[in-house]
Amino acid sequence: MGSVNLSTAVDWQLSINMLPSILNLHLSYCQLPNISTSLPHVNLTSLSTLDLSENRLGPQLPTWVFNSSSLVSLDLRYNDFSYPIPTALGNFCNLQTLKLQENHFNGEINRFKESFKGCIKSNLQDLYLGGNGLSGHLPYWLGQFINLKSLSLFGNFLSGSIPQSLGRLSSLRELDLSDNSLSGPIPPSLGTLSSLTKLYLYYNSLSGPIPPSLGRLSSLRELDLSYNSFFGPIPPSLGTLSSLEALYLSTNSLSGPIPPFQGRLSSLSTLDLSSNKLNGSIPESLGQFSNLKYLYFSNNSFKGILTKAHFSNLIKLHYLDISSTSLVFNVSSNWVPPFQLAYFIMNDCKLGPQFPPWHKTQKQLSYLSLSNASISDTISNIFQILPSNIQFLDLSSNSISGSITNNNIGKITKLLYLSLSSNHLKGSLPLSICQMRNLTYLSFSNNQLTHEIPRCLGDLEFLSTLILDNNVLSGGIPSSVSHLSQLTSLHLSKNKLSGELPSSMKNCTRLRTLDLGENGFSGTIPNWIGERPSFLKFLILRSNKFYGSIPPHLSLLSELQVLDLSQNNLSGTIPESFGNFSAMTVANRTNVIINNGGRYSGVESIWVVWKGVQSEYSRTVSLVININLSGNDLHGEIPKGITYLLGLQSLNLSRNRLTGTIPEDINDLQRIESLDLSWNQLSGAIPHGFSYLTFLSHLNLSHNNFSGRIPSSNQLDTLNDSSIYMGNPLLCGPPLLNQCQRNERFPNSQQLSDGDKVAKDELEIQLFYISMGPGFVVGFWVVCGILLFKRSWRVAYYNFFDDMGDRFYVAIARKLAKFKKNSRLQVETFKNQVISGRQKEH
Ligand SMILES: *[C@@H]1O[C@H](CO)[C@@H](O)[C@H](O)[C@H]1NC(C)=O
Ligand SMILES: *[C@@H]1O[C@H](CO)[C@@H](O)[C@H](O)[C@H]1NC(C)=O
Ligand SMILES: *[C@@H]1O[C@H](CO)[C@@H](O)[C@H](O)[C@H]1NC(C)=O
Ligand SMILES: *[C@@H]1O[C@H](CO)[C@@H](O)[C@H](O)[C@H]1NC(C)=O
Ligand SMILES: *[C@@H]1O[C@H](CO)[C@@H](O)[C@H](O)[C@H]1NC(C)=O
Ligand SMILES: *[C@@H]1O[C@H](CO)[C@@H](O)[C@H](O)[C@H]1NC(C)=O
Ligand SMILES: *[C@@H]1O[C@H](CO)[C@@H](O)[C@H](O)[C@H]1NC(C)=O
Ligand SMILES: *[C@@H]1O[C@H](CO)[C@@H](O)[C@H](O)[C@H]1NC(C)=O
Ligand SMILES: *[C@@H]1O[C@H](CO)[C@@H](O)[C@H](O)[C@H]1NC(C)=O
Ligand SMILES: *[C@@H]1O[C@H](CO)[C@@H](O)[C@H](O)[C@H]1NC(C)=O
Ligand SMILES: *[C@@H]1O[C@H](CO)[C@@H](O)[C@H](O)[C@H]1NC(C)=O
Repeated sequence: MGSVNLSTAVDWQLSINMLPSILNLHLSYCQLPNISTSLPHVNLTSLSTLDLSENRLGPQLPTWVFNSSSLVSLDLRYNDFSYPIPTALGNFCNLQTLKLQENHFNGEINRFKESFKGCIKSNLQDLYLGGNGLSGHLPYWLGQFINLKSLSLFGNFLSGSIPQSLGRLSSLRELDLSDNSLSGPIPPSLGTLSSLTKLYLYYNSLSGPIPPSLGRLSSLRELDLSYNSFFGPIPPSLGTLSSLEALYLSTNSLSGPIPPFQGRLSSLSTLDLSSNKLNGSIPESLGQFSNLKYLYFSNNSFKGILTKAHFSNLIKLHYLDISSTSLVFNVSSNWVPPFQLAYFIMNDCKLGPQFPPWHKTQKQLSYLSLSNASISDTISNIFQILPSNIQFLDLSSNSISGSITNNNIGKITKLLYLSLSSNHLKGSLPLSICQMRNLTYLSFSNNQLTHEIPRCLGDLEFLSTLILDNNVLSGGIPSSVSHLSQLTSLHLSKNKLSGELPSSMKNCTRLRTLDLGENGFSGTIPNWIGERPSFLKFLILRSNKFYGSIPPHLSLLSELQVLDLSQNNLSGTIPESFGNFSAMTVANRTNVIINNGGRYSGVESIWVVWKGVQSEYSRTVSLVININLSGNDLHGEIPKGITYLLGLQSLNLSRNRLTGTIPEDINDLQRIESLDLSWNQLSGAIPHGFSYLTFLSHLNLSHNNFSGRIPSSNQLDTLNDSSIYMGNPLLCGPPLLNQCQRNERFPNSQQLSDGDKVAKDELEIQLFYISMGPGFVVGFWVVCGILLFKRSWRVAYYNFFDDMGDRFYVAIARKLAKFKKNSRLQVETFKNQVISGRQKEH
């Protein structure tokens, strides 16, 4: 048979004349908007292969396709096709391959029943329906495709259990039901599919024990049951799968020890048991799996000691993750491992006290994460041992001491990511850091670093996160910071930095977090903040020496969620524009984990003062909405507009010279949990609306000039600490001892009739918090966005994910893609990059 590939760069008019003689037609990656009408004049009766994949065709299936009843292979992947499917499809008796994935055949999968009625069932070998938004239960009739070799339904919304009838597909080699909402156990009948080589059930809600009958799948090469709710032990029968190359059981509730597989899994190259409840020690027999490349043990209750016997034959080991287990590494200091690792991850474990010298032998090592691993070596020892190809280095939360010198850091210039936070480092930041030109993430927080921030940091053109808080750094912010055009997150709080903010900083237009709190910065709040469109979400200037008035145009920071200007020397009034912070007017927020490229998913974190204490927010930081202007010299009234900020959770205006009354509409702030107005000169009555602020758990109105009766009922009754009201001689009623005169009325209670509505709102709010899931990893998009920037850098970055193979990212990407159809190709590209690392190996 002839085969012509018409993809890309071919003159379409020319080729259409050739069509009658073409038996295989491949038109993928073409821009053919009118293909459904432009082909009918051609006789396609003898066409055997038709490939229209990766175009933008649809929604109607081209009818002419269904006249070519001799088709053997029909590939319509990655288009916008939708129902109806001509019933003629059922008469395609020769059809062996039908690829419809990534189109819009959404809705009940049973709608395919009519189209699959005829002789199509007898010869079809490959049926691909993934990524279509199909819902409903897996139909029993799938079991009638008796010659089926591959069945792929990944990435739909299928629910219910896996039908027993799939056990009849005795020729089946590949079954992919991943990323759906399937529940119930794995039917034991799947154990009869003796030709099965790949079984993908990951990302579902399947439960029950893993059936031992899977051990009879003697052809099985890949078994992926991860991200489900399987429980019970790992069946020892899996050890008989001598063809098994990859076993993924991650993120279930499996318990008990690793069964004694006795080295029979001789082909095994990937073993992923992470995030289960497995316990016991790691059997030494593991050291005999000489094909093992990827080993994931993290997040389990494994105990005991790993010795060189555990690794004796693991000559191919490339990736090792034993984080968050109680395993202890004990090998002699002159151990030469049989492997060359590229990735070694051992966070929250005991590895130290010495930094293991065997790392010297790992010339391929590019990713090393030993956070919280009990290492108490000196930084110069560590840098001497580290191989020079390292790109990702996380040694945070150890007891690493000494100072970083130009010498010892000089050879690891390929780093993209460096975290040495929470150690005991001293001395200054060496200039040679600036030679790590690819750095995107740099953190030295919680050390005792001194001297100035080096000017040359401005050379790190890809730097997106710089975290130096809680050190003893002095001097100013170098004006070269303006060269950091990728900077999104700058944390310099809790140092001894001083001077004015350089005006060149206005160049850092991507800034999302600017945390300069608890330093000695001075000058006015720069005009450039808020002057142009900005991504700024967290602006923290707490405890510095800023003076002058608050610029009204701050309210143009449409993303701003946290504004902390407390404990400075700011004067003037609170701008009326404060009601215009648009992000703060949103009451119902969904949590989005904000990525800053840090460890694991790299979560942004900030310190916020509210309810009288300083707390760190990270995974939920996107929900925090907070204004703190306390401890300044502000006068005038509280702007009425502040009550438009329906999402506000904490407002601290204490220790100023504010006058006037509390805005009457204060009860609009339904989200407020902490409100501190103490130490001002506010007067008038306490509005009755306070009673309906159902989240309010911290209130302080002390030391003002409020008067009248303290409203009672509802929320205020729960706040019965008299210090809330003290220092207001004209206030009366409980909890104060000062009794009210008879004629002292309750303040205006116009809102009383709204009581029922408020109760309903409260219920909704509670439901909102209950249903608030972990959210999407928005940083994924942020990262991807930036990654379009520079190719070489992008390639390097993907290397991180490459073998980590994070299908997590892939699934997120796919889910997002369902919403962001237009980004589909980008996502696929990313997905392919992520996965390719793994596939290359097979
Ligand atoms: C397809 O076949 C039908 C009859 O089965 C015929 O009426 C129609 O013209 C054919 N269409 C094309 C494009 O060949
Ligand atoms: C199409 O081609 C087949 C042979 O390849 C022929 O039998 C049939 O008559 C042709 N149909 C039309 C409408 O020309
Ligand atoms: C492992 O966990 C099981 C319960 O899941 C428990 O019965 C068993 O004693 C544990 N074994 C060890 C060695 O801790
Ligand atoms: C580590 O191994 C050495 C001998 O190889 C032994 O003396 C030492 O006690 C072991 N340490 C632990 C914590 O098991
Ligand atoms: C450090 O690891 C230990 C377990 O080794 C764990 O209990 C602790 O919570 C971890 N600390 C941090 C800060 O993650
Ligand atoms: C601002 O950034 C641009 C490039 O993004 C650069 O050319 C320019 O020099 C920078 N300005 C300052 C003051 O650093
Ligand atoms: C605060 O600012 C005023 C002028 O606005 C100045 O007189 C005063 O000294 C400043 N106080 C401090 C502590 O800096
Ligand atoms: C708030 O924003 C609106 C438009 O977004 C504008 O018309 C209004 O003047 C602003 N209010 C203040 C006080 O700046
Ligand atoms: C408000 O700010 C003041 C001074 O900054 C602080 O002392 C107080 O604890 C804060 N109030 C709350 C409720 O956090
Ligand atoms: C307190 O408020 C009353 C009116 O409610 C007023 O007469 C008095 O002067 C105020 N006191 C101070 C110190 O401002
Ligand atoms: C309110 O503020 C005053 C003065 O700052 C303080 O003494 C008191 O303890 C605070 N009350 C509460 C409930 O926080």
